[in-house]
Amino acid sequence: MLWGGRFTGGQDPLMMELNQSISLDKAFYKQDIAGSIAWAKANHKAGNLSEDELQKIIAGLQEVEREWAEKTFQINKETDEDIHTANERRLSELIGKEVGGKLHTGRSRNEQVAADMRLWLVEQLRQIASWVEDLIKVITQRAEIEIEVCMPGYTHLQRAQPVRWSHWLCSFGNAFASDLERLREVIKRVNRSPLGCGALAGNPFGIDRDFMAKELGFEGLLMNSMAAVGDRKFVLEFLQWAVDLMGNISRMSQDLIIYSTAEFGFVKLADAYSTGSSLMPQKKNPDSLELLRGKSGTIIGQMVGLTCTINSLPTTYNKDLQESLKPMLEGVETVSLSVRILCGVISTLTIHPTNMLKALTPDMLATDLADHLVRKKVPFRETHHISGRVVALAEEKQVPMDKLSHEDLQGVDGRFGEDFEFDFEKSVELRSAKGGTSKASVREQIELLKSMVTS
Ligand code: ARG
Repeated sequence: MLWGGRFTGGQDPLMMELNQSISLDKAFYKQDIAGSIAWAKANHKAGNLSEDELQKIIAGLQEVEREWAEKTFQINKETDEDIHTANERRLSELIGKEVGGKLHTGRSRNEQVAADMRLWLVEQLRQIASWVEDLIKVITQRAEIEIEVCMPGYTHLQRAQPVRWSHWLCSFGNAFASDLERLREVIKRVNRSPLGCGALAGNPFGIDRDFMAKELGFEGLLMNSMAAVGDRKFVLEFLQWAVDLMGNISRMSQDLIIYSTAEFGFVKLADAYSTGSSLMPQKKNPDSLELLRGKSGTIIGQMVGLTCTINSLPTTYNKDLQESLKPMLEGVETVSLSVRILCGVISTLTIHPTNMLKALTPDMLATDLADHLVRKKVPFRETHHISGRVVALAEEKQVPMDKLSHEDLQGVDGRFGEDFEFDFEKSVELRSAKGGTSKASVREQIELLKSMVTS
């Protein structure tokens, strides 16, 4: 046992189970070994290890890494409390305690675990960022190809105004683009080195922290040793980011679930992302999207749980911090899976433009009718009222609004000209200010999104 000197009695087996984290942190075996090699090099530079000792340690650590990679590493449940303990134990078995025992000089597991977690998380987040980029690419590709397609836009889930299908796609493209921007910021903050901070007070051997950080690819240092070892806000920041991302994934899923019902019939999910019913042979269910929607709830729980764990802790390291491992690992798994699934769903989706067109009703142009009078210099508040009366008249006559005669319209207000057309395409094209649903505006959005993901 690493801290055996002071202890006489053995540990209760349940206590060992509670205390261990090897079942989780073995995920960072590579990072732990890379960190130890950088640590050994820096200690050699500081005069704590001879050249020969350094080479033995490096070779031994590489051997330990090989055992993990080849799945031959034997975890000793009695001694290997966590990945740091396990790797050091095995190193000493391989190269002997005389040299192996020098590796941990001036080092604490408190700085080690924080370094491993940060290195691992940065790698994962870079991978996730590239998947979010793929998702944005798939969205913009579809938006470009299907730019002609128009559909009802909804507020309160009630038919509101016609929009381009591509405009709807780009609304989520924009949401994911801001998620991507923020992720790039998060990565910068995670990518700082705690190595050389000790248990809490710092390193007494004049170790070169900048050198170690550079060796490991960190972008900079955490500048207060007490803060550095007690900090898991970097995990929390990732989870908060993940909550937002999963929220956007969930909302897009929710729209698609609705659009895929027979009542809407706007889209059809590929078989690859659907499931059937064990009882009802006709069923094809959008389980992929429902699971993404469901996972957006699970991740909130993980984020809130870690917030509670961290918030009332005393300064520096407390074992409570070990509880940050699970939400980090699970959060990364959830996000990695969800982004890729949504990307697959979007790229394989079939759309039904005729059903979208059929769902457009003339009353969705009531605002355009009001705008028609605005262009004849009638104040909007008045035209809103007039157009509302036209809607009411059509309801009363039980005809669609575009089937009212010119005389009907004139009867409501004499200023109606013959030049108003119930034309959805025209309505969409009128929304040509930046960010609107006209073809040119949507194209501009697409170009902007593309510029964010072509590096
Ligand atoms: N497994 C521990 C964790 O994940 C490593 C740090 C242990 N430090 C200590 N002082 N007991 O937090």
